[in-house]
Amino acid sequence: MSDTWRHELEAIREQAMASLALASDSKALNDWRVEVLGKKSALGQMSKAMGGLAPEDRRVLGEALNRIRQELEQAWRSRQAEIEAKEKALRLERERIDVTLPGRDVPLGAMHPISRVIEEIEDIFVSLGFSVVEGPEVETDHYNFELLNIPKDHPARDMQDTFYLTDEWLLRTHTSPMQVRTMERMRGRTPIRVIVPGRVYRRDEDDATHSHQFTQIEGLVVDEGIRMSDLKGTLEAFAKALFGPSQRVRLRPSYFPFTEPSCEVDLVCVSCGGSGCRMCKGTGWIEILGAGMVHPRVLDMSGYDSARYTGFAFGLGAERIAMLRYGISDIRMLYQNDLRFLRQFRHA
Ligand code: DAH
Repeated sequence: MSDTWRHELEAIREQAMASLALASDSKALNDWRVEVLGKKSALGQMSKAMGGLAPEDRRVLGEALNRIRQELEQAWRSRQAEIEAKEKALRLERERIDVTLPGRDVPLGAMHPISRVIEEIEDIFVSLGFSVVEGPEVETDHYNFELLNIPKDHPARDMQDTFYLTDEWLLRTHTSPMQVRTMERMRGRTPIRVIVPGRVYRRDEDDATHSHQFTQIEGLVVDEGIRMSDLKGTLEAFAKALFGPSQRVRLRPSYFPFTEPSCEVDLVCVSCGGSGCRMCKGTGWIEILGAGMVHPRVLDMSGYDSARYTGFAFGLGAERIAMLRYGISDIRMLYQNDLRFLRQFRHA
C-alpha cells in the first residue's frame, strides 16, 4: 500500500477522532456519523475508488479501510454512550421534582344534596324497571291543568298558585303534566313506567319549608291490570331502598283531581323510628308524597282507554327527601349556595 494512502487514512482517522471529541450532543453525533462514515465521506469515496486498484493493493487497502472504519465506529459508540448518559443526567436534573414541596390544593367540588337525592331515587326506580324522562318547565295551562282534570275554576288551581307568563303559558306548578306528555308520546303502547325529575314553580312566600322553586319527581305506571296494591308495593320497595329495610309506608286517603282514588303516603318517622317525636308531631309518621290511581278521565284524554288500562302515579318533593335524609331544617339552605353548607356533602 502506498504511503500516500497510509498518510491519508491516518489523517482522516485523526481528524475524525478530533471532531468526535468535539461533538457534544446527539445531533452533532449523528452529523459526525454521516460525515465520517457515510457514503459521501472521504472513507466512502476511498472504498469506491478501490475498484480501480490492482488486486493486491485492493486487499491491503480494503483491510486498512475496514480496520479504521471499525475503530471509528467503536469510538462513535462509546462517545454516543457518554453523550446519552450526559443528556439523561441533564434531563433528570431538569425534570427533577422536589417531593418535599407542599402540594397544590385541587379544589374538590361536591354534588349538591338535591342532585344526590335525584340520582339515588333514579337508581332505585331504574332498578325497578322504570325509565327516566324529563319535560319542559315552561308549560301550557292545557297540560299543567286541563288535561290533568283541573278545569279553570277548580279550587286546586288556588293550591298551586301559578306564575303565569301569558294567559296560556306558565311555569309548571308540578311535574304531573309529564304524565300526559308521556302517554301522548307512547301513543297507546304499554307498559309505561317512567319517573320524571324536574323543577317546578309556585307563587309561595319562601320560608323554612316553602320555596317558590323546588324539585319534584313524578312517577307514572300504566298497563292492563295495574292496581292500588302495585302502587303500595312499589312505594314500599322505594322506601326500603332509600331509608333502610325496616321502612314501611302508610297510605292515607286524600284528594287530587288527576287520581282516583288519591292518597298521601307516609314513611315511618326517620327521626324517632315511629315512637313519636317533635319532627313527626308525635304521630310516628311523616308524609313524603302524594299518589293515586290515574283518573280514568286523564287516561282517556291521553289516548288510553280507561276501560282497558289502569295506572298509578305519584309525585314527591326532592327537597323534602334531602331534608329528611341529611337532617336539614330549612329548605332555603338548599338554594343559598353557602359553600360552608355545600362542602359538608363532599364525603356524604
Ligand atoms: N302533582 C301533585 C302536587 O304537585 C303531586 C302528586 C299527587 C302527583 C298525586 C301525583 C299524584 O302523580 O298521583 O302536589
